[in-house]
Amino acid sequence: MLEELGLTPLWHRRTLQHVTDSAMEAIHQADVTNNRHARVMQMDWTQLKVSVADCAACPLHQTRTHSVFGAGDENADWLWVGESPGVEEDANGAPFVGQVGKLLDNMLAAISLKRDSNVYITNIVKCHPPANHNPENAEALQCHPYLARQIELIQPRLIIALGNFASQSFLNTDATVASLRGKLHQFSGIPLIVTYHPSYLLQTQADKTKAWEDLCFAKATMQRLLQ
Ligand code: URA
Repeated sequence: MLEELGLTPLWHRRTLQHVTDSAMEAIHQADVTNNRHARVMQMDWTQLKVSVADCAACPLHQTRTHSVFGAGDENADWLWVGESPGVEEDANGAPFVGQVGKLLDNMLAAISLKRDSNVYITNIVKCHPPANHNPENAEALQCHPYLARQIELIQPRLIIALGNFASQSFLNTDATVASLRGKLHQFSGIPLIVTYHPSYLLQTQADKTKAWEDLCFAKATMQRLLQ
């Protein structure tokens, strides 16, 4: 009947405009994000690696040289997660290289671990944020399906969150490493321990003692989990 009265287009138009463009855009974005998440959660390792290499879901793809997927033993008991690739990682496509990577290797060695052997290393955000700014929450959100799928494929026994950004992202809190460390947390049912980021430790030597305590706690926790 509306069509016969010539009112259909008018009704449609005005209704949509009243819902507001931004609300429609938010609904559209939620659909896109949900579908992407569901698709990523079906991927195998090869598909996931290709998807991260080609990802254009957030503005960081415009300035990256390489996305940094992560590296290590894909069946590891240990999953160590940093913030986002730095300049050197962006150039190499590998996580934790250079000085910061050396300190991470030393942290692993302190509890008899080696990257690639029962250890997997990755970041919350897979592309380097220019000018070393902290990743935006929206960037972390777009990257989240990749980490979620990595965790599902690896099935680690213990996650180590390195630094404020990783800890806060996993635990959905504003609390700092200083207040989160020394406790056993959980992410999606997986035990999680928080410690300082090696790049912070390079600047704040005094907290290395606390990091050492965290590593001992992590090692003891893993021993208990393996019993
Ligand atoms: N800092 C991080 O958080 N991750 C890296 O891969 C390198 C530096």
